[in-house]
Amino acid sequence: VENIKIGLLGLGTVGRGVYRIITGNPENIKRKVGAGLEIKKIMVRNIDKPRDLDINPAMLTTNIEDIIDDPEIKIVVEVMGGIEPTLDYVSRALENGKSVVTANKDMIAVYGKQLFALSDASHTDLLFEASVAGGIPIIRPLKQCLAANRVTQIIGIINGTTNYMLTKMTEEGSDFADVLREAQAKGYAEADPTADIEGYDAARKLAILASIAFNSRIVLDDVYVEGITKITAADIAYAGELNYIVKLLGIAKETAEGVEVRVHPALIPRDHPLASVNDVYNAIFVTGDAVGDTMFYGRGAGEMPTASAVVADVMDAARNLLHNVPGFISCTCYEEKPVKDMGATEAK
Ligand code: NAP
Ligand code: HSE
Repeated sequence: VENIKIGLLGLGTVGRGVYRIITGNPENIKRKVGAGLEIKKIMVRNIDKPRDLDINPAMLTTNIEDIIDDPEIKIVVEVMGGIEPTLDYVSRALENGKSVVTANKDMIAVYGKQLFALSDASHTDLLFEASVAGGIPIIRPLKQCLAANRVTQIIGIINGTTNYMLTKMTEEGSDFADVLREAQAKGYAEADPTADIEGYDAARKLAILASIAFNSRIVLDDVYVEGITKITAADIAYAGELNYIVKLLGIAKETAEGVEVRVHPALIPRDHPLASVNDVYNAIFVTGDAVGDTMFYGRGAGEMPTASAVVADVMDAARNLLHNVPGFISCTCYEEKPVKDMGATEAK
């Protein structure tokens, strides 16, 4: 069986990890998929940028047509980030019949509805496991393994940067600006870290989770958002004296007034399981009417954990292509549901 060819959009933190996994353990992938995976072209912004990767420079391009117009490329992996020009590239890839794997919560949380419609129309996969909570399996478990449940609530620590910062501020009394720089250096933060510290990154992820959990289409604008920029060392110390820990939580519930979706700092009792979720780790509690409480835990950001989720999606898309069932996982069955008004949040 011939290798399945991939076009990679982006070779930054996550893209490097994807390249390392696909080129680093090809036999593992081939055994599990039934065909090898081969990265044919990689789109970057700057071809001359030094990269700590053993890579053939001829694979790099700044021209999107080299990927989306190449009939040999069957799967496009989008790890560039942002909306412009990414939304256009991903839309055109789907229209050209390519399966797409993305880690881009900004795009899925706002434009998911139109992209799922495109993938449905072109019978291609649009997979986005890495868009929420880095390496933690949560999209597929919610969509598939817990599908028999009526999900009643989700409570999660779903931003690695702010959890890393709050952990360091709590345990070491570190300064806000210093720990933000550390999180950026470790590759956890978004290109613009405002999205992390103001809560919008968590809000995007919560919109994605709530959409799947409640079989609806919740978008970023539906989420009430408050970040951690107003949290001081004194707040954390007072909370500690009362045996509480400060965490940035994403909370989604189905209520009589509609779906309630909010992100804000919260006080958690020290003996609560979420209180011991530290560093870049994320955790998501999901309660279903049949299963009861479940909890998903792991590294929520960073090169290899995120790439782990991206490559698993690529493997699923490749299997679906081999068996002539692309689009098998995607689903546009959902209901429009009212969203509870939690008060306006300024521009997101
Ligand atoms: P990053 O380190 O900033 O890398 C972005 C890559 O995309 C770079 O290789 C850059 O090219 C390329 N790129 C950006 N804009 C481009 C454009 N207009 N044209 C061509 N190439 C362009 O970003 P990242 O941290 O890997 O994040 C990528 C995506 O994954 C984002 O959607 C992010 O939200 C998501 N994500 C990240 C993490 C994480 O832990 N970092 C976790 C989960 C999800 P150059 O190399 O030439 O600059
Ligand atoms: N900036 C994000 C975080 C990356 O810190 O959680 C993972 O989505």
